[in-house]
Amino acid sequence: MATFEPSKLGTKEHWDSVYEEELENFEEIGDEGEIWFGVESVEKMVEWALENLPPSANASILEVGSGNGTLLFGLLDAGYAVQALHGIDYSAGAVSLSKEIAKTRGGSDIVFTECDFLNEDPQQPQTASLDRSDVWDLLLDKGTYDAIALGERDEQGNLPTSKYPGRVTRLLKPGGHFLITSCNFTEDELKAAFATEETGLAYHSRIQHPTLSFGGKTGSSCSSVAFVKR
Ligand SMILES: C[S@@+](CC[C@H](N)C(=O)[O-])C[C@H]1O[C@@H](n2cnc3c(N)ncnc32)[C@H](O)[C@@H]1O
Repeated sequence: MATFEPSKLGTKEHWDSVYEEELENFEEIGDEGEIWFGVESVEKMVEWALENLPPSANASILEVGSGNGTLLFGLLDAGYAVQALHGIDYSAGAVSLSKEIAKTRGGSDIVFTECDFLNEDPQQPQTASLDRSDVWDLLLDKGTYDAIALGERDEQGNLPTSKYPGRVTRLLKPGGHFLITSCNFTEDELKAAFATEETGLAYHSRIQHPTLSFGGKTGSSCSSVAFVKR
C-alpha cells in the first residue's frame, strides 16, 4: 500500500483557504472552481451510477468530501431527484460554495452539510425512517480519500486513512455500494484497503479510464472501483 509524506492537502486549513478563495471567485465572476480529476471523471462516475443505481431506484446518495458539488450536480443533470442527493465536507467554505452554486443549477434542495467523515455521522437522508447510521445506498468519493491520505498519522502511528474503510461500512446499508475514484492509489491498492473481512465490503466493478503508456508500462492515470456491502 502506498504511503505518502504528509502535505498541506491533508489539512483542513488548506481546504478552508481553497474554498474561501473559490467562494470569492464564484461571487465575483461565477467561476465554480476546480473540477478534480477533470470533467471525464465526473461523467464516468455518473455513467456508473446510471447503470447500477438508476434514478428509478430512489437510492439515497452521499458524496464524501463534496467540495464545490460538481459530482452531485452531474447526477442532478442526469435525472437523479434532488431529494436523493447529499454532500458532506469538513470545510464550511466548501459547504457555502456548493450551496451558492446549487442555487444557480436548480439544486437548492440538495443537502450539503459540514461534517468530518472520519469522526461524525452525517445528517440522515430525508428518506430514512430509522435512527441508525447504515442508511445510505450509495457513497461516492472523488479525491477525498486521496486528500485524507496526505494527512498526518495519529498519536498511535496509524495512517490517516486507517479509519476510512470502517466509516464506509458503518454508513452503507447492507447491499449498498461505494464508488471511489482515486489518482493516488491503484485499483489493487483500493481493493486491498476496502475489500476485507473486517469491512464486509466486496469488490463489485471498476470504471475503465484512458490508459497512458510510459517506459514500456501501461496504466491508468486514475482508478475508479466500486464495492458492495455484503
Ligand atoms: C480533492 S477535494 C475533492 C472535492 C470533490 N469531491 C470534487 O471531486 O470536486 C477533497 C475534499 O475532501 C474534503 N475533505 C477532506 N477530509 C475530509 C473529511 N475528513 N471529512 C469531510 N471532508 C473532507 C476537502 O475539504 C475537499 O473538499
